[in-house]
Amino acid sequence: MSNKNYIDFFRQTSPYIHDHRGKTFVIGISGEAIQDSNFHCLIHDIALLQSLGIHIVLVHGARTQIDRRLIASDIQSKFEQNIRITDEHAMRCIKEAVGSTRLTIESELSMGMPNSPMYGSRVRTVGGNFIAAQPFGVRNGTDFQWAGEVRKIDKSAIDSHLKNGSMVLISPLGFSPTGEIFNLNYHEVATCIAVELNAEKLIFISHPTALLDKDKLLRSLSLSQLAELQETTKEQQQMELLDAAATACHGGVERVHLVGFAEDGALLSELFTRDGSGTLISRECKNTIRLATIDDVGGILDLITPLENQGFLVRRSRELLETEITRFTLVVHPEGLIIGCAALYPTSNESLGELACVAVHEDFHDQGIGARLLAKIEDHSRESGMDRLMAMTTKTAHWFIERGFTEVKISDLPDSKQEMYNYQRNARIFEKQFSP
Ligand SMILES: CC(C)(COP(=O)(O)OP(=O)(O)OC[C@H]1O[C@@H](n2cnc3c(N)ncnc32)[C@H](O)[C@@H]1OP(=O)(O)O)[C@@H](O)C(=O)NCCC(=O)NCCS
Repeated sequence: MSNKNYIDFFRQTSPYIHDHRGKTFVIGISGEAIQDSNFHCLIHDIALLQSLGIHIVLVHGARTQIDRRLIASDIQSKFEQNIRITDEHAMRCIKEAVGSTRLTIESELSMGMPNSPMYGSRVRTVGGNFIAAQPFGVRNGTDFQWAGEVRKIDKSAIDSHLKNGSMVLISPLGFSPTGEIFNLNYHEVATCIAVELNAEKLIFISHPTALLDKDKLLRSLSLSQLAELQETTKEQQQMELLDAAATACHGGVERVHLVGFAEDGALLSELFTRDGSGTLISRECKNTIRLATIDDVGGILDLITPLENQGFLVRRSRELLETEITRFTLVVHPEGLIIGCAALYPTSNESLGELACVAVHEDFHDQGIGARLLAKIEDHSRESGMDRLMAMTTKTAHWFIERGFTEVKISDLPDSKQEMYNYQRNARIFEKQFSP
């Protein structure tokens, strides 16, 4: 990466760094992810989050490690409703597998992260009897024995460790008041903790990839879309993940992210870039529309630079954008990403405004975002005493025509606009009269 690209990249991530600092993220990571070759990088990325001031509760699974240990001990497990019927022989293997998986994570987080970008940092992890459990019991005639479910979370203990700057590492085991140990599902544990702590985010790193629909990444899901997917999903582990996400959202967690473990850097790209790399499930999937502030300059540049490069928009420098920022109206995704913008400029004719720099991120086309921006700009124009809008475009003429604009000639423009007209660009000019 060149120096310039690096500086741009660093500036673009800063709003996310600022936004995430001091927030609590609960991360659920599967046993499969822990044994993946990418785990070494992944755990250091989690340590990086901690070093950026994010409070991390890391909940690990161990199903793959447990299966391996049971096979080695020649013990066959039976599952009902995707829950392992846990007898005392299985429980012995589970304790060993969970303990050893936990040690793997703790050792990766220790020793100052040699051979990693986090070299020299020290992540303090804490654990404890934070999860009270109860037996799953006998259901439909099946006794699940030492398979349990979460009964209570010791919120204040977890909170105080987070405040002290430690990462809280939770294993999928819980304890009953009578001193018994129960085998828990890590999805359930992570979900209960996220709800109890009112976490900002619950992040599951369970599968090699995020959610896909015919090989295409599902970037975001509303709760109703999630419910549809729950109806149609056949795969048991995916079902469990979707159910956990739904429970978390209904329990008050604003955002659940599903991030794949196989791709290097997927977690960081999900949390610190506009496009992300995982699936976001949010309680409120509503975009907001608002005026821009100086803090939005980076996000607007992210949005418009590719369109400038393709010749859709006239090029604007960062400096120009900074001076004109108050002219911009934005559509902002629930994750804080700027996915649409439009600007309103006055002209020398008081009743005529210029609509410019209309842009919608291509992943969000055809959702009425462009139309919404236009309606908002018309509102602002009316408030400023205008009754007409003009726009210039090289490639989007029909979008304007279909929204009530008609083509006009250069000679119809106010003098100052005629003087500045770029004949080389040869943009077509449109005007729309609207009711006051
Ligand atoms: C033009 C643009 C802002 C539309 O954004 P959007 O949020 O997808 O727009 P909407 O959802 O309100 O409208 C979508 C409709 O417009 C149509 N549309 C999109 N681009 C079009 C174009 N170039 N010509 C004709 N129709 C177009 C879509 O096919 C869709 O039609 P439908 O409603 O019949 O399905 C977006 O395509 C964009 O950012 N383009 C590049 C930047 C640009 O050219 N800006 C204008 C110059 S200032």
